[in-house]
Amino acid sequence: MKVDVLLGLQWGDEGKGKVVDYLATKYKVVARFQGGPNAGHTLEFDGIKHVLHQIPSGIFRSDIKNIVGNGVVLDPVIFKKEIEELADLGVDAPQNLYISRKTQLILPTHRLLDAYQEKLKGSNKIGSTLKGIGPTYQDKIGRQGLRVGDIELEGFEEKYQTLRDKHLSIINDEEIASKLEELEPIFYEAIKYLKTLKLVDSEYLINEELNKGDGVLAEGAQGSLLDVDFGSYPFVTSSTTMVSGACSGLGVAPSKIGEVMGVFKAYCTRVGSGPFPTELFDETGEQLRKQGHEFGATTGRPRRCGWLDLPALKYAIMINGVTQLFMMKADVLAEFKTISVCMGYKLADGSTTDKLPYDLVNQSVKPIYKELTGWNDAMPSSASYQNISQSLKDYVKFIEDEVGVPIKIVSLGPDRSETIIR
Ligand code: GDP
Ligand code: IMO
Ligand code: MG
Repeated sequence: MKVDVLLGLQWGDEGKGKVVDYLATKYKVVARFQGGPNAGHTLEFDGIKHVLHQIPSGIFRSDIKNIVGNGVVLDPVIFKKEIEELADLGVDAPQNLYISRKTQLILPTHRLLDAYQEKLKGSNKIGSTLKGIGPTYQDKIGRQGLRVGDIELEGFEEKYQTLRDKHLSIINDEEIASKLEELEPIFYEAIKYLKTLKLVDSEYLINEELNKGDGVLAEGAQGSLLDVDFGSYPFVTSSTTMVSGACSGLGVAPSKIGEVMGVFKAYCTRVGSGPFPTELFDETGEQLRKQGHEFGATTGRPRRCGWLDLPALKYAIMINGVTQLFMMKADVLAEFKTISVCMGYKLADGSTTDKLPYDLVNQSVKPIYKELTGWNDAMPSSASYQNISQSLKDYVKFIEDEVGVPIKIVSLGPDRSETIIR
């Protein structure tokens, strides 16, 4: 069997959690391969609405192994809290949760460093979720990070203290540094708890599952436009959010990758700072935010909203080799009489392009729009493609023709049941 990879193709929050939960029954394993508690993946079913941050979205299916891969950065405190919240819902997460020993640990001082680095950037701040993601990946690449497997070895506490002190020597801010006092005891407690969970060499586990013939679904976090190489740098996250991240973040060979499933919203959103060519600053943007309940699942911040950006979508499809698309939140556009789609950009020198320009930050990049008819349609009573309005079908066909990849799922609501398979 192969690993199917599910990715966000925009700036995150495309609805990955919903789709992973929906598709999970087809797989024996769901694995996260990058990111950490900066992610917020929402699942809705049977009247439950739940947001997962570090735990894979297959956790509600007790027969599925959920793996936190080596490419993830893990905050043990948030992880423990997530497991406790699941227990309140009657889910015994530890039973089917496996954590790679090679997963990097987010330390309390990584979070403080994140806050400190953002503060130093002033008006150029990334708009980080302040979960310590950037500093933890910096330490990983700088070859000084601590990994989950280290907690089982002698001398963890000394190693932790050495790195903590190194971090503290960088943070030249009394107020930020003083928060450690409160964070450290909870961290130690969470490390103790982490030791009781299934810590594994997950690269073996995943490859053995594949060899047995079991399907594996790799659950991406963030989105391609936040990728550290191909996103709107420097306004990106610090991991490889693309398909290749699944290989390095799980220990599977490129030849083992099967379907590449790209999730996108029927429009665009972004949370945090950074360029966003189709962002709307008017009532239409406000209406998208209101209809789509566009507030961050991790930080609660209002998401910036705008029209679908086709050159950006095509770019994400190209760099990932996407084989099938899932279009989310089509219901949100229901009340719009007309819908705009960005077909290309006009640059500062008057030239036009249908490619995503290198510099989105310093130069003016104005979208060139095409107007389409809205569909004025809610979820059809039976979840079948035939029952949806012609203008929504036209929108789906229009995007497919433009990007050359089939749209296999159209989502018309947050609930598991509000999903149409084509
Ligand atoms: P993720 O990070 O990609 O998993 O996405 P988030 O959970 O951060 O944000 C997606 C939001 O949209 C969540 O609140 C979902 O419940 C919601 N959602 C997902 N699909 C749909 C849909 O088709 N229609 C509507 N209205 N909401 C959706
Ligand atoms: P999911 O998996 C949306 C954004 C932050 C910020 C930038 C860097 O739910 O789609 P970081 O904390 O990673 O240093 O922040 O990336 N960001 C996300 N935006 N969805 C996410 O995850 C995000 N994770 C990070 O807002 O702009
Ligand atoms: Mg999210």
